[in-house]
Amino acid sequence: MALADFQNEIYFQGLGGVRPEFPTDLTKLEALAERKLPPEAFGYIAGSAGTESTARANREAFDKVKIVPRMLRDVGVRDLSVELFGQKLPAPVLLAPIGVLSILHPEGELAVAKAAASTGVPMILSTAASNTMEDVAEANGDGLRWYQLYWPKDRELAASFMARARAAGYTALVVTLDTVSLAWRPRDLDQAYLPFLQGIGVANYFADPVFQKAIGGPVTATNRPQALLHWIANFSDPTNTWDDLAFIREHWDGPVVLKGVQHPDDARRAVDAGMDGVIVSNHGGRQVDGAVGSLEMLPEVVAAVGDQTTVLFDSGIRSGSDVVKALAIGARAVLLARPYGYGLALGGEAGVRHVVRCLLAELELAMTLTGVKDIGELTPEILRS
Ligand code: GLV
Repeated sequence: MALADFQNEIYFQGLGGVRPEFPTDLTKLEALAERKLPPEAFGYIAGSAGTESTARANREAFDKVKIVPRMLRDVGVRDLSVELFGQKLPAPVLLAPIGVLSILHPEGELAVAKAAASTGVPMILSTAASNTMEDVAEANGDGLRWYQLYWPKDRELAASFMARARAAGYTALVVTLDTVSLAWRPRDLDQAYLPFLQGIGVANYFADPVFQKAIGGPVTATNRPQALLHWIANFSDPTNTWDDLAFIREHWDGPVVLKGVQHPDDARRAVDAGMDGVIVSNHGGRQVDGAVGSLEMLPEVVAAVGDQTTVLFDSGIRSGSDVVKALAIGARAVLLARPYGYGLALGGEAGVRHVVRCLLAELELAMTLTGVKDIGELTPEILRS
């Protein structure tokens, strides 16, 4: 079935049509989620670093790039599928890692895992998830799943996370580089809100045998404060350098993708370090305030390493046309983040599925109307800056 059939389903179902439960313009979800969520939870997902100028720059970068549609190019049959690391995806879209999803909906990552499996879109599970990677894998079933690593200071714990992820069927490893510390985030600071300190988003740590050994046994009400202190001490290792990637290689025998790359020289270093891919991302503007819009850096990164490694894009995707732009510049696929978080907040699994179906349908229609019938035809020729 064509991904764009979602449009027909809405207009023609029962011939009278069926109004979707949630808005189909994904930029409308944020305001609805704000009404529904507790202020702390909304602030956590919607917020960015500092004055939030990077989050705005992410969107401005998309607005500066325009699509120039072409006509009479036989777009009767479309194919949106792509192959990434030997796996066929229905479309060039993955669900980005977002932590602590249970603050948005009680089912958290389990709902996302089910929605991902039912749409065929891969899910990238965050280390900071509120459910364990094993439980999420079970909910995801035969779905495609990747694991995102926040690289803990304790190397034995890092190795344990990677071993558990492999055992639970996560096929690629995404190592996030831009979060050696959480940034200055006024929305969270003003509410003195850090979900981890309430024991949310630490499930993978608390369930880990290496973590438990370090605190002298399973986490109980008594040793919980000690467990949280151990989490704080181990969340990241700001001393890591490019040479340390050898450790990751040693412990992960599948594809490794580095997330948070912005500078083309860093992308070159990733290739030199034998990495299988980079994700051009600024963490949705959540880390460095005053940073360049992520899409602005994509052409340089593609020019530097696009022929040597897989370049993926993240930060600011809100519509099918955004996907068209990022792919035409040279990304092989994109990561969708906040919109599916808002979908989760509004409707759990059904809300996430809605968001994914909207994005994919809009992408297929945007390609069709631009005169592009498969992903390979998305080239800079269809863009103007
Ligand atoms: C953590 O990764 C966050 O962005 O909150």
